[in-house]
Amino acid sequence: MEDTEKNTPLPSHVAIIMDGNGRWAEERKRPRLFGHKAGVDSVREIIETTRSLGIGYLTLYAFSTENWNRPAHEVSGLMNLLQRYLQSELETMLKNDIRLCCLGDPDRLPKEVRKTLVKTIDDTRACAGMTLNLALSYGGRSELVHAMQAMAEKCCRGDLAWENLTETTISDHLFTAGQPDPDLLIRTGGERRLSNFLLWQLSYAELYFTDVKWPDFRKDQFFKALETYQSRQRRFGRIVVHLDAE
Ligand code: FPP
Repeated sequence: MEDTEKNTPLPSHVAIIMDGNGRWAEERKRPRLFGHKAGVDSVREIIETTRSLGIGYLTLYAFSTENWNRPAHEVSGLMNLLQRYLQSELETMLKNDIRLCCLGDPDRLPKEVRKTLVKTIDDTRACAGMTLNLALSYGGRSELVHAMQAMAEKCCRGDLAWENLTETTISDHLFTAGQPDPDLLIRTGGERRLSNFLLWQLSYAELYFTDVKWPDFRKDQFFKALETYQSRQRRFGRIVVHLDAE
């Protein structure tokens, strides 16, 4: 996996919908949380690989606004996994120069998880090697509503003139403000939909769907997705532009 002048560049930002943990566990006649636990190992491997490839941004859809409707024991199991993950990974994040950001509404998270999350975000604030976005209690439409409310408020206060509102203004009011849009979206687990994920930011992303369930999505699978991305031409609505000419 190279990012040389001859090759199509690697993406700057990869976003992943990590789907299939529950089915992976059910296939093994184990509880769904067993699948989520195995999914954490994939999370570690994909973060490590992303960092070692020099990809600057990785966004993982860890918990959607809709996921709050799952049975209480699954929600609390996922929150425990998240809490343990954040506690155990801080040292590795600092060592590997990884900055953690949260996309979503952390106020809905249990107090202890929120505390650990805020501390990890603060402690890694100066890290510049890679940005890891965890989408937690995240919904794309709700992110857009949040951005529109913030812009409307500025218009009412006189801090923003409606006629000066541009695509950049909208991007600047999203949770991903200041970050490049994802070039590549990967969804594991066989479904072929966006499920309310990064609706604005994914406008021009290449989409890669695989039947592989998240706990089985490891380094080799990730390379395959990146190679597929590199084999595609991104035209952004124009006629013919080779990636290495952009
Ligand atoms: C979707 O699988 C996955 C989730 C809702 C949670 C993803 C969480 C993890 C990978 C582990 C925790 C994350 C971190 C960052 C520590 P699903 O349960 O919908 O699977 P199914 O479609 O097979 O039911």
